[in-house]
Amino acid sequence: MNIILLGPPGAGKGTQAQKLVEQRGMVQLSTGDMLRAAVAAGTPVGLQAKAVMDAGELVSDEIVNQLIDEKLAGLAPEQGVIFDGYPRTLGQAQSLDGLLGGRGRKLDLVIELEVDEDVLVDRIAGRFSCASCGAPYHDHFRQPVKADTCDACGSHEFKRRADDNEESVRTRMAEYRGKTAPILPYYDAKGIVRRVDGMASVVDVSKAIDKVLDD
Ligand code: AP5
Repeated sequence: MNIILLGPPGAGKGTQAQKLVEQRGMVQLSTGDMLRAAVAAGTPVGLQAKAVMDAGELVSDEIVNQLIDEKLAGLAPEQGVIFDGYPRTLGQAQSLDGLLGGRGRKLDLVIELEVDEDVLVDRIAGRFSCASCGAPYHDHFRQPVKADTCDACGSHEFKRRADDNEESVRTRMAEYRGKTAPILPYYDAKGIVRRVDGMASVVDVSKAIDKVLDD
């Protein structure tokens, strides 16, 4: 299956994509992760994207379409894909159709995580991860069992994203409302959108997504 997880910043796309990777062996393609890796590596794409991302605005369609095309090229045809944070504009949605079609794939479902924007700033502002293995944590919802020690790898180094501050989050929300939410009618017209309550607990959201996929 090839699916899109769609929702505003902090809706839980990355969290749920990880669960699908663990439980179903699907491949997560997160353009946010790809761009952050490019920034960290100091590649030309990373240098171009850094200021745009820090401000909470969208990187150009051309760059992200290219990143996705390269990743799809490296996958075996039978590997199911979860698109996380992509597409984010109508142009990207149309490009994705072309990229999938060119590789004999098709988009099966778009799962929209419906969330109340008020909780998202709290979710994002409290988020941090292990600097060594990337294990995710949260100041309120999920702290390491032993303070300052990663549960997964024992590292004592943690990091926070440069765009996880209130000003960038507000811009990211506005970008979502203005440019990304308008792609829903494009997919609604194809009859492939399923909506899940993203305000439930991580476990219950995961169960709801499982139900959608099993149906
Ligand atoms: P990206 O990395 O995609 O960020 P985002 O869309 O803003 O999404 P987040 O990663 O912040 O949130 P999420 O929905 O994955 O939530 P998470 O699971 O982490 O993009 C970053 C930037 O890159 C963009 O602003 C843009 O500049 C650029 N970019 C990326 N893709 C692009 C594209 N296609 N086109 C152009 N530019 C692009 O959860 C958040 C927190 O909430 C976590 O702490 C988690 O533990 C917690 N949480 C999750 N679910 C629950 C729950 N059910 N209950 C309680 N807490 C929960």
